[in-house]
Parts: sequence; C-alpha cells; structure tokens
Amino acid sequence: MLDKEKFYITTPIYYPSDKLHIGHSYCTVATDAMARYKRARGYDVMFLTGTDEHGQKIERIAEEKGVSPKEYVDEIVKSVKELWKLMNISYDRYIRTTDDYHVKAVQKIFKALYDKGEIYKSEYEGLYCTPCESFFIEKDLVDGKCPDCGRPVEKVKEESYFFRLSKYGDRIIKLLEEHPEFLEPASRRNEMINNFLKPGLTDLCVSRTSFKWGVPVDFDEGHIVYVWIDALSNYITAMGYGSDDDSDFKKYWPADVHVVGKEIVRFHTTIWPAMLMALELPLPKKVFGHGWLIIDGGKMSKSKGNVVDPVILCEKYGVDAIRYFLLREIAFGQDGNFTNEALINRMNSDLANDFGNLLSRTVGMIEKYFGGKLPAEQVENPLNEEIKAFAAKTVAKTEEYYDKMFFSDALNEIWCLIRRLNKYIDETAPWVLAKDESKKAELAGIMYVLAEGLRIISILIEPCMPSTPALCFEQLGITDPSLKEWNSAHSFGLLPRDIAVKKGEAIFPRIDVKKEPASIEKEAEKKAKAEEKAAKKAEKQKKKEETAEKPSEIVIDDFAKVNMKVGVILECKKVEKSDKLLVSQVKIGDEVRQIVSGVAKWYTPEDMVGRKVIVITNLKAVKLRGTLSQGMLLAASKGDKLELVSVSDDIPDGADIS
Ligand code: MSP
Repeated sequence: MLDKEKFYITTPIYYPSDKLHIGHSYCTVATDAMARYKRARGYDVMFLTGTDEHGQKIERIAEEKGVSPKEYVDEIVKSVKELWKLMNISYDRYIRTTDDYHVKAVQKIFKALYDKGEIYKSEYEGLYCTPCESFFIEKDLVDGKCPDCGRPVEKVKEESYFFRLSKYGDRIIKLLEEHPEFLEPASRRNEMINNFLKPGLTDLCVSRTSFKWGVPVDFDEGHIVYVWIDALSNYITAMGYGSDDDSDFKKYWPADVHVVGKEIVRFHTTIWPAMLMALELPLPKKVFGHGWLIIDGGKMSKSKGNVVDPVILCEKYGVDAIRYFLLREIAFGQDGNFTNEALINRMNSDLANDFGNLLSRTVGMIEKYFGGKLPAEQVENPLNEEIKAFAAKTVAKTEEYYDKMFFSDALNEIWCLIRRLNKYIDETAPWVLAKDESKKAELAGIMYVLAEGLRIISILIEPCMPSTPALCFEQLGITDPSLKEWNSAHSFGLLPRDIAVKKGEAIFPRIDVKKEPASIEKEAEKKAKAEEKAAKKAEKQKKKEETAEKPSEIVIDDFAKVNMKVGVILECKKVEKSDKLLVSQVKIGDEVRQIVSGVAKWYTPEDMVGRKVIVITNLKAVKLRGTLSQGMLLAASKGDKLELVSVSDDIPDGADIS
C-alpha cells in the first residue's frame, strides 16, 4: 500500500493572556475544518496548535495576580484545552512554549544563528509595545501609539542581539512574487509587499534583558530570546527539530499551511521565512491570513470589553451550530461581523428550516407512508436524474472550495443542494402520490433520492460540523462505515434501497429571534458577574494572605520610635480569672515595671522568674483583666509554638535593643 500523503497544518499558538474568546475560536475552528477535510480525503494529517507562554506581558500579569508566570499560564492552558475539547477541535499535537524540549530547541536555533553570523550583539534603543510584544520605529507609530493595538509604546534601551533580517528583504519579495500561493488571500500579499517589504526591512532585535520570563540565551546570561523567535520556532520544534528524535520533522516539514490572523501575517512572512532561510531549512508552502471577527466595529478584545464567550454559545446552541455560523457567515480571509441576531437568523433559516426540516420531513414521510422501511422495488421520478447531477456538481464544487479553504462557499454549495431537495419535495408532492396505491413505487423512489441526498450532505458537512453527521446517519438508519466515507459521496445510489429509518428529535430546534439575543446577553452578564465575583474573592483572600505574611514597609525612623530594652523577671504570678495571662515584675536597669503577657499556655510563673526578656518600654500602659501592664515582652511564635525572645547572660538588664 502506498504511504498516505502528509498534510501539516497549524494554528497560531495563543497568548494565554486571558481566556479565549470567539475570535480565537474562529481561527481554530477553520483550521480544524481543514484538518478534518484532509483526513477525510485520506491524508496523513498533522494538526498543531498550542500556547505562546513567554514574554513580559505574561510576566506582568502574573505579578499583578501574585502568582508565578508558570502557575498563571498553567491555569489558562487548562481552560484553552477545555475550550478546544468543547468545540471538537481535533488537534494532533499541542505545544506549550514552556515545554522543556521546545526551550532547548529554541536555544539551539538561537546559537546556530549566532554561530552562522546571522545574529550579532549590539545595543537596542527604540520603542516596544508590551501587549503585542513588538518593536517599532517612530515612523511605524499611529498617533504616537502602537499601530496594531493602539496602546502606548515604551522607550527601551538595552544591550541586545540582532537578527540580520534586512538581508532577506529581496529574497522574500521574490518569494512572494514568484510563488503567489505562499501568501493568501492575494490582498494580503500586496499589502505585505508594498507596506512592509518594499520600504526595506531593518535588522530585528531578538533578545531582551529587562525581564526574565522567556527562553534564556544559554551562552549569554541575562538575555532572553525575543518572543516571536521563540513562538515561530514552535512550528518546527513541535515536530522534534533540534531534539534527539526529529523523525516527525523529517516527515511533516515543510508545513502545508500556517493559518494566521491578518495582524500576524507580517511576522509569518518576514521573520519566519528569513529565519528558515538563515537556518537553510525549507519554507512553509502557504501562509493563509484570515480576517477578524468584528464586534461593534472593532476586533474583539478583552481590553475593549467586547468579547463574546464561546462557551456560553456552545452550551446554549450546540457546538456545530456555532461552528457553522463562524464558517458560513464570514468569507474566510475577510473580516466579518458577529452579532447574536445574525447567529440566530442563520440557525433558524439554514439549520432549523433548510437542513433540519429536510431530514425530519424525509424520515417522517418514510415512517408515515412506508412504516419506516422503504420497499426495494422503486420507480424513478423524471426529476431524479437532475437531482443526481446536482449532487455530483455539489460534491465537486464543495471539494474545490474546501481545497482553497473557502469554507463559506463550500457550505453555500452544500446548502444549495439542501434547498434543491426541499424544492424537489414540493415539486414531486409525495402527499399526493401517497393517496394513489399505484404510485407507491414512484413515491419510494423519491424517498430514496432524499435519503441518499441527505447521506451525501452529511458527509460533506463533517469538516465544519463534526457531530451532526452521526445524528443524521442514526435517523436514516445508516450503519455501514463505508457509506459514511468521503469517497462514497461521489457515487449517488450506494445506499441500500430498502433502508429502515428511525425518527429522532429535531437536530436543530428553532429559536425565538425576539427573545433569544437578550437571553444570550443576560447569560453572558450573569457569567461575567460570577467570574468577577470569584476573581474579587480570590484577590481579597490573596491580599489577606499577603498582608499577613508581608507587613507594610517602614522606614528606619518608624523603627526608632519603638524603645526596647533587656529586662529580667523578678517575680511572676497568674492573673486572676485568666487562663492565658501572667503578670511579671520586670527589672529594667534602675526601674521595675509590671508587665502582663499572654504566655500562660507555654510558661509557668516559676519558669518565668530569672529569665532575661526583651521589653517594649514605650508602649502606652493598659489594663488587661483589670491588671496594669506597663510594656510588652517580645516572643516568637509559629502555629502552636511560642518562645519568649531572650539574650545571653552577658547582656545586663537595662541594655538597649536597636
Ligand atoms: N501568540 C501569537 C501567535 C504566535 S504564532 C507563532 C498571537 N496570539 S493571540 O492569542 O493574540 O492570537 C492568536 C490568533 O487569534 C491570531 O491569529 C489572531 O489573529 C486570532 N484572533 C484573535 N482575535 C481575533 C478576532 N477577533 N477575530 C479573528 N481572529 C482573532 O498572536
């Protein structure tokens, strides 16, 4: 048997700077659809995703939260993986840039580039956007702010390593011009060439010394590898490049496609190919720069407060409905609006009305007219040939669009077939034929065409809607795995004639368009409030612990306000009616003071007599259980243990403590 052809596809690795929103899911769902499609077509697919866990931003967030960066990212990565599970993301490998093997491989890559003279040491003076982890020069800024996120940039000056990016500008322009397929859609190519490459690339600062959370440069202490060098390397380190076992690298590299959002196309089509050229490695075959999911006119982002929580939507409407919406509503490559209304309209019109109805009508009629099982003797309706041709065209077109990652067009084709079949029901009017016994065979032939059409549709939607086909197959009584395989969609008529159906629940219920958007918002608010409450509680608890552990700072003058002297206990007895208190007569140089202390649990009055103690002498006198106390004895305590602080016999009473 021939080896399967490989297909290596990646998503960007996500910053665990916060919980992921529907915008992040968009990119991963699309990549998943492509990976599933290629698997269905018989490829040996490697689908890589992961998290980009280093950088100053993560270090700062962790510090604000009072946890270590690793503790912080561990928590977020857990929620990222849960989200991908919920959304049915079929990744084959998950890389964390904090994984040991990755860190070591990045160090090797950095050293190899240094040894080749591709990286050199100099001094960096410039502007840095911490949230984007990007360097800029003055002319890049928009109104003095970061051109990507609009936030203020910081001036930084430090000794740094530089990568000779400038050397690769011409080769990259040539690459984009000679291999237009390297960067798609085409509009991104022109933007890259005209806005970034033609003006000239400058050498890139690739190490930082002002923070610690990153991959250390192992031959120069204090230097941390720039996050983009660290992050981009993931595409090869995840395959074992730079490790003892690079068999997957040999098998899967070069990647067939890196799916990335439009704002990071720049990194993937300048730094990344230049790094690979410098390392003398093959280049990825394609970078696909998709658009943004827009809400209220802007890219979804936590700082803008316009994020949409994918968990709420998936739990409410089912993952496939959300996946369908994301892939159908927005042409992959362009920006698209997300609104709850648009989502519900799509769910009602495309899913409940068109698709759900076609299935329930078909199964319902087979039950009603044939008791659930079609007779094998069937007569062809004159329209059947046209329907078969329509289905064949749909399969071909769908494949063509999936191959180009035009998911919206692929789904549109499939829905044309769905609508054609609904129309076919109206045209053939089965309810009329059912009244005439002599038309039963023709009626059975019509039902068969509908069921077979639905089988093909179920196969075609699988990359985008992985759980729905099983529901359709179940209702259509299809169990034979070969009838669920992609290639079987090319042949109309493989379904046995005498299928037995089983009516089930509506696969996509209708949603009340008037009430539902408000209910989504309400739920999102409820969830946000609950999360806020939990975060506040955790913060309060943390502060409490911190203040318990770390008293507020004082200056030396504050300390000087406390007078402490060595004393010796002359007499001691229990304070009346108290189990805890002892009252001692303490000689401090020339004077004797009466001091009450809560040490009865640890010392008897006899233990106390003759003991050297440290006394705070300028504490305002108070009465404790009616007994005057003119100072305080110092004691050390932890948990259940307590010991009075003392000095050796060499130090006389009356000595100062300072
Ligand atoms: N860590 C880098 C990628 C390094 S890849 C070597 C990064 N991470 S990110 O978490 O900020 O973004 C990950 C991906 O999510 C990007 O491709 C980005 O475009 C995408 N999206 C984030 N918000 C989005 C929308 N609102 N809409 C569509 N995609 C969005 O960049």
